[in-house]
Amino acid sequence: MRTETPPTVRLEDYRPSDHLIDRVELDVRLDPHDTRVTARLAIRPNPAGRAGAALVLDGDDLRLVALALDGEPLAPAAFRVAPSALTLPEPPQRPFTLTIETRLDPTANTKLMGLYRSNGVYCTQCEADGFRRITYFLDRPDVLSVYTTRIEAEAAQAPVLLGNGNIIESGRIEGTDRHFSIWHDPHPKPAYLFALVGGRLDRMTAPFTTMEGRAVELAVYVEPGKAERAAYALDAVARSMKWDEEVFGRAYDLDVFNVVAVSDFNMGAMENKGLNIFNDKYVLASPETATDADYAAIEAIIAHEYFHNWSGNRITCRDWFQLCLKEGLTVFRDQEFSSDMRSRDVHRIGEVRTLRARQFPEDAGPLAHPVRPKLYAEINNFYTATVYEKGAEIVRMLRTLIGERAFRAGMDRYFSENDGTAATVEHFLKAFEAETGRDLSDFAEWYERPGTPRVAVSGHYDEARKTYRLDFRQTRPGAGADAPPVVIPVRLGLIGAEGPLDGATSPQLEDGVFVLDAPEASLTFENVPAAPVPSLFRGFSAPVRVDMAMDDADRLTLLRHDTDGFNRWEAAQRVAARLMTGALRGEATEAGADAFAAALGAFLDDRALSDPAFAALVLALPSESDLADEIGAEIDPDAIFSARRALRARLGTALSARLHALRDALAEPAGAPFSPDAASAGRRALRNAALDLIAAADPIQGAALAGAQVASATNMTDRLAGLSTLALLPGEPREAALAAFAERYAHEPLVLDKWFAIQAMIPEDGTVERVRGLQAHPAFAMTNPNRVRSLVGSFALANPTQFNRADGAGFALATETVLALDRTNPQVAARLMTAFGSWRRLEPQRRAAAESALRRILATPGLSRDVADIAGRSLG
Ligand code: ARG
Ligand code: ZN
Repeated sequence: MRTETPPTVRLEDYRPSDHLIDRVELDVRLDPHDTRVTARLAIRPNPAGRAGAALVLDGDDLRLVALALDGEPLAPAAFRVAPSALTLPEPPQRPFTLTIETRLDPTANTKLMGLYRSNGVYCTQCEADGFRRITYFLDRPDVLSVYTTRIEAEAAQAPVLLGNGNIIESGRIEGTDRHFSIWHDPHPKPAYLFALVGGRLDRMTAPFTTMEGRAVELAVYVEPGKAERAAYALDAVARSMKWDEEVFGRAYDLDVFNVVAVSDFNMGAMENKGLNIFNDKYVLASPETATDADYAAIEAIIAHEYFHNWSGNRITCRDWFQLCLKEGLTVFRDQEFSSDMRSRDVHRIGEVRTLRARQFPEDAGPLAHPVRPKLYAEINNFYTATVYEKGAEIVRMLRTLIGERAFRAGMDRYFSENDGTAATVEHFLKAFEAETGRDLSDFAEWYERPGTPRVAVSGHYDEARKTYRLDFRQTRPGAGADAPPVVIPVRLGLIGAEGPLDGATSPQLEDGVFVLDAPEASLTFENVPAAPVPSLFRGFSAPVRVDMAMDDADRLTLLRHDTDGFNRWEAAQRVAARLMTGALRGEATEAGADAFAAALGAFLDDRALSDPAFAALVLALPSESDLADEIGAEIDPDAIFSARRALRARLGTALSARLHALRDALAEPAGAPFSPDAASAGRRALRNAALDLIAAADPIQGAALAGAQVASATNMTDRLAGLSTLALLPGEPREAALAAFAERYAHEPLVLDKWFAIQAMIPEDGTVERVRGLQAHPAFAMTNPNRVRSLVGSFALANPTQFNRADGAGFALATETVLALDRTNPQVAARLMTAFGSWRRLEPQRRAAAESALRRILATPGLSRDVADIAGRSLG
């Protein structure tokens, strides 16, 4: 069905629901094609709503079977029903019970929203608006209900039956092959947190005792035969629970905490109360099948979903405009958790790389929106890098501004004052205002307008006075002409030729932070013995772009002497980026490249073996998309690719002896057991970064080393790293290694996803044809979101030269996939479309090709609202 102009929902139109639903009793009789759902809803007029208003329950594709009010069948004249709504024009003006029976076909549910079957397992996904695909309901986050759920299924087909909350009863149904279980969740929750699971699953469990003394059983459920692969996720659950107690004082509040891995899932995972449901990619791990990056992602996402129990579930969102209230805050919390589990500097660099790769381009393109959007046509299109990652940066800036102690106190206040409610961003900020006595209304501007602020900085040294002045000027591209300044915490320090200038001070600094809250401001340091190099935005203290003219030599001073790990890394990135953009403009950069290589060499000698994870990040030059984002207009991805390849080759040549020595020094002793811990992962990362640069300089030697590594690797990290290096080197060894890999992992879909992705990212002319061929591979399936993302998503989002081919062949491939997928799974189709988000920044020929692809999509009849929304906004 084509929705011509999708209705727009606006924040300013919010009003409370006219009715509330206090209790929900669900009876779900599972069947592959004919599931019956009976919902008994205890409804009453909302005192805060309009008296006498009609009751309008949301539905989506629903089939009503029976309807009763207080136990009596309702006369046809008393209600109106459609697949999308059930209306009682004149509901009782008192509490009443509505009993609704609907029938569903979970097998036919290819949208993977609501109740569906994945590999024979029944599961649900209700956020943002999937519950209305199960029964008619007030499907909005500010209607909180206590749920009791009875789940029934054929015992052999679904021996495991799981619901929200605690299990209160289970048993066989006499005289049938069916059984049931009944779950009760005492915590009132919005419908988007409802979940159930039924299937044949193996499990791994562990006991946990909370700081309040509650005994909790933790369990991770996975496909039969894969229980050992759940061990890492299970341990991550326990570590997350402990950490949230220690760092935020938050304890778990049910007797069981269940995690279920399913293989068909639209996103990463979902925080349903007491029953988190995961994309199996973020649960299953073994050394043979998972990389270090997979382990880190599992740890982070397990933590993220668990942390939602407080930031999202106990305190939920009043409306979907407040999505960042739970998502930005919870990303911040999971980032802090990972930083405590791993290396803080290394993790921070990873966070910023993600932000710059995904959020900065989004914020600079047609899909830009405020962290708290003001309107939407399709809410599922707003689970974005802006809401999540920029949302997390806002929380981080708040902590930087008020300090750690006040931040923790404010969080405690937020949790206790809003527990059990559906809150807004204002409630969040108010808790910190109350705690600090500070007015945060200026700070709140970060939520209101799109665009990445720019801060121009210039430094002025006064030899006679021994002072150093920094002049700051902020602008807000994309935020509108009337946009007020934002409050920008600038953490900074000064570095001299020999190290930090600790004697230099400024009364304008508090704990090393300068607050830039005006369009222009200056900061003066005293006691500065010689012209310093400023280390600005330490730890990336604000999500802004910084413009400061600085010599490579000064930046290399920072690489050497800065006490801030993030800025040491950033210094090397800036030098590399300048060399590459300089080469693109035709400047001679050889001398600069050699000086950079010398500095990198000294850095490696100094620190590579003491902090390999950090050194690996220094060696990873800015990506092609980083450079595109920096250049910002008239982008030619082929030219960027060549400039980057040339610099990598030059560095690889200059550092060759050191890179080989590092590979030897970091080799894992034969027979050493695999450990996914951060230190071991860091050694593998540096070793593989060295391999990659060696291959960039010397493809023949690189191919030999990479091929040998693929053949002899004892874990997926090394095997895949070898294969990724080899993938950039055309020829028979590459094809043979790819074929052997496919054979070895023929029965491991998650590993084949890596194989699809590697091939989709090959920066060569033949890749479009290769991807088309792989779409016909028996292991590929358009019905599985992980397969689509691995093959077509990697192509469209991570292969800049081939997706953006000047002849439009890359856009055509993506377009065809989007249109085919839109018929079955609009959410995943819409997500794939975001690959077009930076089309306006391309050079004219590619821009024209992208535009016509977008127009072709938008002109297609029968488009989903999800895809129509993205296509429309991309062109708008
Ligand atoms: N709340 C989930 C999480 O971030 C994600 C749900 C995404 N839902 C969606 N419709 N896109 O943990
Ligand atoms: Zn989340």
